[in-house]
Amino acid sequence: MIPQETVQQILHAADVVDVVGEFVSLKKRGSNMIACCPFHNEKTPSFSVSPTKGIYKCFGCGKGGDSVRFIMDLEGLSYPEALKWLAKKYGIEIQEKEYTDEELLAQNERESLFIVTEFAQKYYAEQLETEEGKSIGKSYFKERGFNQATIDKFGLGYSPDGWDTFTKHALKSGFKVEILEKAGLSIIKEGKDPIDRFRGRVIFPINNVAGKPIAFGARILKKDTKAPKYLNSPETEIYHKSRIVYGIYTAKNGIRNDDNCYLVEGYTDVVSLNQAGIENVVASSGTSLTKEQIQLIRRFSTNITVLYDGDAAGINASLRGTDLILEEGMNVRVVVFPEGEDPDSYVQKVGSEGFQQYIKENQKDFIRFKTEVSLERVGNDPVARAGLISDLVETITKIPDAIKRAVFYKEVANLLEIDESVLITEGNKLSRKKIKDSAPKQRPFPEGIEPPPPDLFVPGFEEQKAEVEISGSEKEEMFVKDLVCYGHEVIEKDPDTGEEIRLADYLLEEIGALEFENSLFQKILNAYKDQYDSGHYPESGFFTGHQDTSIQDKVITWLSPRYELSDNWSRFEIHIPSYVSKLDDLSYKNILRIKKDKFQANYKQLAADLDETEDEDEINLVLQRMMKVKKVIQKLSEQLGSVI
Ligand code: CTP
Ligand code: MN
Repeated sequence: MIPQETVQQILHAADVVDVVGEFVSLKKRGSNMIACCPFHNEKTPSFSVSPTKGIYKCFGCGKGGDSVRFIMDLEGLSYPEALKWLAKKYGIEIQEKEYTDEELLAQNERESLFIVTEFAQKYYAEQLETEEGKSIGKSYFKERGFNQATIDKFGLGYSPDGWDTFTKHALKSGFKVEILEKAGLSIIKEGKDPIDRFRGRVIFPINNVAGKPIAFGARILKKDTKAPKYLNSPETEIYHKSRIVYGIYTAKNGIRNDDNCYLVEGYTDVVSLNQAGIENVVASSGTSLTKEQIQLIRRFSTNITVLYDGDAAGINASLRGTDLILEEGMNVRVVVFPEGEDPDSYVQKVGSEGFQQYIKENQKDFIRFKTEVSLERVGNDPVARAGLISDLVETITKIPDAIKRAVFYKEVANLLEIDESVLITEGNKLSRKKIKDSAPKQRPFPEGIEPPPPDLFVPGFEEQKAEVEISGSEKEEMFVKDLVCYGHEVIEKDPDTGEEIRLADYLLEEIGALEFENSLFQKILNAYKDQYDSGHYPESGFFTGHQDTSIQDKVITWLSPRYELSDNWSRFEIHIPSYVSKLDDLSYKNILRIKKDKFQANYKQLAADLDETEDEDEINLVLQRMMKVKKVIQKLSEQLGSVI
C-alpha cells in the first residue's frame, strides 16, 4: 500500500502537460495543448490537454482522464503501478518494503507479471557479476564492444547455464510457479519440475514505453549447437511482440527531438548505436513491422529511416513491409549498408561521425529506392517492367497525402522514363477499385416494396422532426453535471449577513433524499454529498482523479466541451459566465422536471395498485394518495409553465 500522504504528493507533482508530453508532442492551442491521440490512430489532432483542469480528452476515441489515468491506460498499469511510475518520474520516495506480501499476491495478474519480470531482469543483470557470468556473459559483451555504461543502460544480463537456477531462486523469493510460467520465465512439462527458459544465454530485456521490462531476448553464446541464436519470451499478458519495438524507451526523446526514428533489425544494432551516442533508434527484432509498431513510433515522429543490412534477401523481405509504413502516413527513407555490414558492425567500424555521414550521403526516399532496386532487378524485360509499374503505382496509392502522391508520381515517371499521366491513370483506377471493394454492399429492398425516395436520406433530415423530449436520465445528468461543474458557484449573497449561497447548497436542499433512476448519476451524487457533508465543496479534480473510472470518464466528458479544441478560445470564456448567470433558473427548472417525473411515476404506480386492490379501506387510502400526488404534479406543472 502507498501511504495516502505520498499519493497526495504524487498527484500534486504529476502535471498533466508534463506527463502526457513525455509520450506525445503537444502543441499549444489557445489555453489548451493538442496532439495526435496516442490511444487511437489519427492524422489530425483531436487529443486535447487542459493544463488548468489537469485533464486530457480525445474527441476522436473518447479517452480521457488525469495524469494517473493517462499512465494507466497508455501503459496498461494498475492504479498503484501508475502511481509508482509517477513517483519514480518525480523522484518521490515510496516507503515500501521489498516485495511485500501484498506485492507478491498482487491484485491482478498483470501487476504480478510486471513485478516478476522486473525481478528476473534484476536477477539476470546481477548474474553478470558472478564468476560464471563474468567469464562468459560479461566477456562476451566486452568482446562485442559494449562498455559498462551501455550494459547498465540497457539492463543487459546473463542467465546461468543450469536447468533451474533462476526458477529455484524465484520460488525461494516467494513467487508462485504459475506466475513464473505465465511470464514465460519457467517452463513446466507434465510430471517434471519446472526449468528455466533461458539457460546459458546473454539477456536483452525488452522494455515498454515507460521503461519497464516486459520480456526478454536471449542470445546463445555457444557456436556448435542446433539451438536457435535468439530465444525470446513468449507472448504474455504484458508482452505482445507485435505492439512493441525494442529500444522505444531509450529512443523516444531522441526521436522526438530529431523528428526522425532509425529502424534497425537487431538488439545489438540498437545497443551499439546508443553507445555511439545515437539514441533515436528502435529494432523490429527480425520481423517486418506491424501496424501497431508503426503507430507506436508515430507517437513521437512521422519520419522513419530504415537501416538495411547490406544483403539482398534482407532488402527484398523488408521492401514488402514498408508499404505499411507509408499507409500510416509516415515519410520513409532508406539506407543500405555495404555488403556484409549491419548498423552494429558499421558504427563500430567507422564511429559515430562516420556513421552519420554515411547515412546523410546514402539515404534515399523509399519510393525512389524501391524504383531503383526494382529496375535493377527487371532489367529490360518488358513484361517484368509492366508488372513493376503497377507494383510501384500500388505503393504510391498507399500514401494518404495527395500532394505527396503527386510528387512521387512525377519522380517515379522520371526514373522509369515514362509519361506521368500513365502512372496517375493507373493509380486512380486502383484507388477506385479499392473504394468499391471496401464499400458496404447495399442491401436490396424486398420484392414488391418501393424503396423510399432518396431525399429521405438527406443528412440532417431527422433534425427537422419535432424536438425530442428530454429523457429522465438526461435530466438527472443535467442535475449532477451542474452540481459537479458549478456547485461551488455563488448564486446568491445575503445583503445583510453577507452569507453566500452556492449552487450546491441550493441543489442539494431541493433534491433532498430523492433517488435517481440512473445508478451512475446516483453514485456521483452520493460521492458529492459525502464530500459536502464533511464540510467542503469538492472541486472537479476530486472527480477527474476519482478511482472509479465510470465516475472519472463521465465528469471528464462534462468538463471537455468539444469546442475547447477550437482556436477561438474566447468563445469558451464567454460561455461559462453566461451559463452560470442562468444557472439558478436552469437548474431550478430541471429539478422541477425531475420531481414531476418522480411524482408521475408514483401516480402510475398508485393507479396500478388500485386495480389490484379489493379491500375498501385500502382503496380509499390509495385514492387519497392519488389525489395528493395529482395536486403536486399540477403545482409543479404550473411552476414549469406548462399544463397537464
Ligand atoms: N532474431 C531472432 N531469432 C533468430 C535470429 C534473429 O529473434 N534466430 C531477431 C533478433 O531480434 C535479432 C534480429 O532478429 O536481434 C536480427 O538478427 P541478426 O541480425 O541475426 O542478429 P543481431 O542482432 O545482428 O545479433 P548478432 O550481431 O549478435 O548476431
Ligand atoms: Mn549483428
